[in-house]
Amino acid sequence: IPVQPFVLTVFGATGDLARRKLLPALYQRDRAGQLPERAAIVGASRQQMTPEAFVAFARAAITEYVPAGDLEDADVARFLARLTYVPVEAEGEGGWPQLAALIATHTDMIRVFYLATGPALFGPICSRLGAHGIAVDGARVVVEKPLGKSLESAVALNKAIGEVFEERNVYRIDHYLGKETVQNLMALRFANNLFEPVWNNAHIDHVQITVAEDIGTAGRAGYYDTAGALRDMVQNHILQLLCLVAMEPPVSLDADAVRDEKLKVLKALLPITEANAGQLTVRGQYRAGASAGGAVPGYLEELGSSTSETETFVALKAEIGNWRWSGVPFYLRTGKRLASRVSEIVITFRPVPHSVFDASAGTLRANVLVLRLQPEEGVKLWLMIKDPGPGGMRLEHVPLDMSFASVFGVRNPDAYERLLMDVVRGNQTLFMRRDEVEAAWRWVDPILEAWRASREPPKPYTAGTWGPAAAIALIERDGRTWSGDD
Ligand code: BG6
Repeated sequence: IPVQPFVLTVFGATGDLARRKLLPALYQRDRAGQLPERAAIVGASRQQMTPEAFVAFARAAITEYVPAGDLEDADVARFLARLTYVPVEAEGEGGWPQLAALIATHTDMIRVFYLATGPALFGPICSRLGAHGIAVDGARVVVEKPLGKSLESAVALNKAIGEVFEERNVYRIDHYLGKETVQNLMALRFANNLFEPVWNNAHIDHVQITVAEDIGTAGRAGYYDTAGALRDMVQNHILQLLCLVAMEPPVSLDADAVRDEKLKVLKALLPITEANAGQLTVRGQYRAGASAGGAVPGYLEELGSSTSETETFVALKAEIGNWRWSGVPFYLRTGKRLASRVSEIVITFRPVPHSVFDASAGTLRANVLVLRLQPEEGVKLWLMIKDPGPGGMRLEHVPLDMSFASVFGVRNPDAYERLLMDVVRGNQTLFMRRDEVEAAWRWVDPILEAWRASREPPKPYTAGTWGPAAAIALIERDGRTWSGDD
């Protein structure tokens, strides 16, 4: 679908997200020839800054975050020529008439407002966009997590946004949905006939979703300490991955067809409450250790506090109470300062019902489908095969291995490139609907409540390991192990 001319206003334009992700992504799409000639980008933030200074900021951002091989003078110049800047007070009146006048000069263009700010400013910005007559003509708004800290705050945020923007114009980004492998999950499930017939509790033993990071709080300790791993990663990214694994086949890839199915999964998650949180969840917090080849401080030292009980690791055993998935555990885990950076979805099938091989063939192992999100995106399907050669029937567990980089040899676009273009195209399929976000909080809130009630501090783990021993016990109790911890 061709991209219509648009004027994109980025609030929080001098912040971290704009610098690391948005400006580099827009540059890459421009370089790929996807931005219409008239496309314009307006930076807005409270900083008093000239348009020239913003252009210099954007140039520095691109130089730092776009691979050198993708930087060409002509492309950079064309991109920077699209930029301008207006200082605006999100919670005051300054700058709004100027912004309104500037945007009005871009006639017949799709208006997009990207709120790359903290959620406390979503309401104030939306209401001013409404009051100044800027959010008109089907204007779209893009917001990003944290979409609240609880169900109640998420409802309030959604309400504030909804007072100005219709739901069909609200784009709630979960950047995991823009990742190549995540979209591939839909291709794999619905463009092949091989998987869907066995995609259920009769054939699948369990599912694991791991999003492990080796970094710490990376300069965001202030925010992170108010969130913790459950809110920061599970409420959004991991539950979205779980939904895509578990949802029924939608009738099409239309936004609501897909989102209706995801919502059903969220509603079918069995509750974790005070009664069972002790068995089904493990929280951890890292202590000093070694990561990426060097000594690293513990969470509390990074934060400069000795009292925080925020979890930097969480492992959960979730279950979906519906016909397809009943009895299949979904083990979820995520954490900072773990042994390596790896995100994957691992689907382990049930063993064959009867072995025709004798003991000398070796142990029969289950089929496993691994979707690797990062690093080295790809799909592996582990099968049993005969060890080649005359040694008789000896069986081996080997992967059919499709590493995207080696098969396709193309640059893997950043999630934001895809998602930003989807906003301009008006495609909400990869964005979360209001009721989905609220349903996810409805499941997460009782877990937070159970943790508060238990008064148990998070379990310490050494930076550079796979988290607290209790997380290993969580899965081993069920006679299973976490995939790939070596
Ligand atoms: C963000 C979280 O949403 O995702 C961060 O707030 C986390 O804490 C990041 O580091 C991980 O994203 P990615 O794309 O690097 O896996």
